This record gives sequence, C-alpha cells and structure tokens, in this order.
Amino acid sequence: MADLSTTFTGVRFQNPFLLSSAPPTESESNIVRAFEAGWGGVVTKTIGLHPVVNVLGPKTKFLRVDADSAHLSMKKRPGAALHSSWNWELISDKTLDWWVPRLGRIKKAFPHHALVASIMAGSGNDTELRHWQELALACEKEGCDALELNLSCPHMDRPDMGSNVGKDKELVSIVTKVVKEAAKIPVWAKLTPSTTDIVVEARGAFLGGADAIVSSNTFTSLPLIDAETLDFEVHVDGLVSTGGLGGPAILPLSLAKMSQLTQAFSDKSFSGIGGISTFEHALNYFLLGCGTVQVCTAAMLDHAIGPNIIKGLNDGLARFIEKHADKGWTKVDDFIGLRRDRVVSQSKIRRADEKEYRGGYEREGYSEPVTS
Ligand SMILES: Cc1cc2nc3c(=O)[nH]c(=O)nc-3n(C[C@H](O)[C@H](O)[C@H](O)COP(=O)(O)O)c2cc1C
Repeated sequence: MADLSTTFTGVRFQNPFLLSSAPPTESESNIVRAFEAGWGGVVTKTIGLHPVVNVLGPKTKFLRVDADSAHLSMKKRPGAALHSSWNWELISDKTLDWWVPRLGRIKKAFPHHALVASIMAGSGNDTELRHWQELALACEKEGCDALELNLSCPHMDRPDMGSNVGKDKELVSIVTKVVKEAAKIPVWAKLTPSTTDIVVEARGAFLGGADAIVSSNTFTSLPLIDAETLDFEVHVDGLVSTGGLGGPAILPLSLAKMSQLTQAFSDKSFSGIGGISTFEHALNYFLLGCGTVQVCTAAMLDHAIGPNIIKGLNDGLARFIEKHADKGWTKVDDFIGLRRDRVVSQSKIRRADEKEYRGGYEREGYSEPVTS
C-alpha cells in the first residue's frame, strides 16, 4: 500500500485531498460523510458573524456544452458535458453559535482527519478586525487544525468583505496579521484570482504571517443571456449580479495563477483549487508546487460530497506513486514542484530558427540597423 499521507503547514493529512469551503462542507452531516468517504481534510463553508440572507432561487447552476455543437447553456439536456459551475452564494447562513458545538463534535469523532475552519469578517474598522480574532479563537478552541481566511468571495453583500479585502494588499496583510496574533493554529489565506498580479497580494499575506496561500476561489463572471427570452440564464426579477465561475473551465486559469505564486515563493506552502475532478488534474497542482489540493464543483455533482471523486483521487495517487517507485518516490512530497521551473517567459521558448529571432525587432517594417 502506497503512503498517501502528507504534512502541510504542520498539520498531518491522511491524503492531500480536501473538500473546499462550499456547499459540500456546509453541515455536520456532510462533513461526517466526507470523512467517512475518505477525504483527508475539509475546509468548512465560510463562517462569519454578520447575518447572511441569500438571493431568491438557485444559488448555483451548472453550464454545459453540447458534444456536437458550440451550444452552451445551463439547461439540463442529454449528452452535454460540464463546462463550469456558476454561483452567487454568500458565506454560511448559520451563525458561529450554530457551528461551534458541531466543530467540536466533528473533531472528537474524527481526530485523525484535518478540520480547517474558513472564516470571514469585515475590515472597515477595529471592531471588524476583532471579529476575525473572535472567529479564529472560537474555531481553534473546538479543535480545528487550521484556519482559512476567506479573502476571496467574489460576490459578498458588503464592500469591506471577501474579494474586496483580497484585492487590497495592505488589508490582506492586516487581516492576516490580526488573526496570526490571536491564533496558535496555522493560518491559510485564500486569495482572489481577480487581480492583476496575485503575487502582490500573496506577498501581503506572507508579510502578515500567513502559513500558506490557497488559490483559486471562483472567477468573477456572468451567466449567459438566453437568445430566446433575452433573460440571463440566472436572474431574479430580470436582474443579475456578477458571481463566481468554478469547475473544468477554470482549471487552466487557476494553474496560471498557481504557477505565478509558486515561482515567486518557492519555499512557501500552497493549496491548489480550481477545476479538479481527477488525479491527473490534481497532479498539475502538485507538480507546480502545491502540497495539498481542494475540490468543490466536482464533489457537488457527485452525491454532494464526492465519494467517487475522492476514491478516484486516492486510487490515482496510489497508482502514480507505485508507477514511479523506480525513481525512489514513496509519497506526494517527492514530486511536489517538479515542473515549477518549466514555466518561463515567452522569450525563453526555443524558435524554429534561433538565428532569425530578434524578439520582433529589426524585421520588415522596422528600420534596418545602421551599418558603417
Ligand atoms: C456554491 C459555491 C459556494 C462557495 N462558497 C464558498 C465559501 O463559502 N467560501 C470559500 O472560500 N469559497 C467558496 N466557494 C469557492 C470554492 O471553495 C472553490 O474555491 C471554487 O469553487 C473553485 O473550485 P472548483 O473548481 O473545484 O469548484 C464556493 C463555490 C461554490 C460553487
């Protein structure tokens, strides 16, 4: 039997696969089912202190593409393949008081599974910053193994929360520092992909003392407009706001963000999310430098918590380790980051004819170099 375990930010995981903060981890029963199904860890649905009321109607829909045409739609139909999830769900609508006894019970029942609490508060003033500490300490007291700071929800109902914090490197740093001052357990910062250069916000998080960066949350996006009705495929009274795109469509996008991060901070810890449903997908994140990976959309579509998904991930990892035993690989740590340095700037990629390449200069349309 291959050893699937790993230690990430000082926390031991039976395997490097976690359910990310989202509907699969929104309740005690889901988290219990997830651990029983074999997930190495879960990140709870984000816990906050302010009351949350979601929009009317569905909070998540799935966009599908036909196999034999370019037709993209959220309408369920046979033969269509998953393109992405789209959601405008807020953080948990359960209070911290609701979560506290449940976190304690889960941890007692599953002491060898990693329970990570995702938390979120505002950032507008000192009282709000103290809310982060209140949330952190309450979760730590119940035995949670680590904290994940939600600095990345793209559709919060308040301007001083979620990705609005994550877009501001100073606020990222302040919030991380405030939580680090209060908590003894590791603190992970989940950043938004919706900025120009995610390395800037990651540096802020590390300056604040973050033990790991988590990326990606969903990408800011709109549902498509139905050409027949001229309504958005998701709307309430004809109105829509931007929401988050997840699932297969974001895998390459999220990998690009992760590559930037792991190259900029090659000695730091990263947890990769975005579009994972098979071990081959997860392998991309490991090879770029992630120590753990997290899954949402694929698990939502597999009995709500992904029993088949986690089986595939664990089996895939075991097979991969066995296949590469001749290289001396015995666990995931042996191949983390092995392809990190293969991503280079375009100018470093070999050309058909190296001698002819001038980086676009000195060619037709440009003046000839002066020769004397
Ligand atoms: C319906 C839904 C709700 C989500 N809620 C949260 C949340 O409360 N906190 C959080 O950090 N991320 C949340 N996410 C983002 C996911 O954790 C994950 O980062 C994202 O979906 C990308 O992963 P995927 O491609 O596997 O879906 C949510 C995603 C979905 C689809």
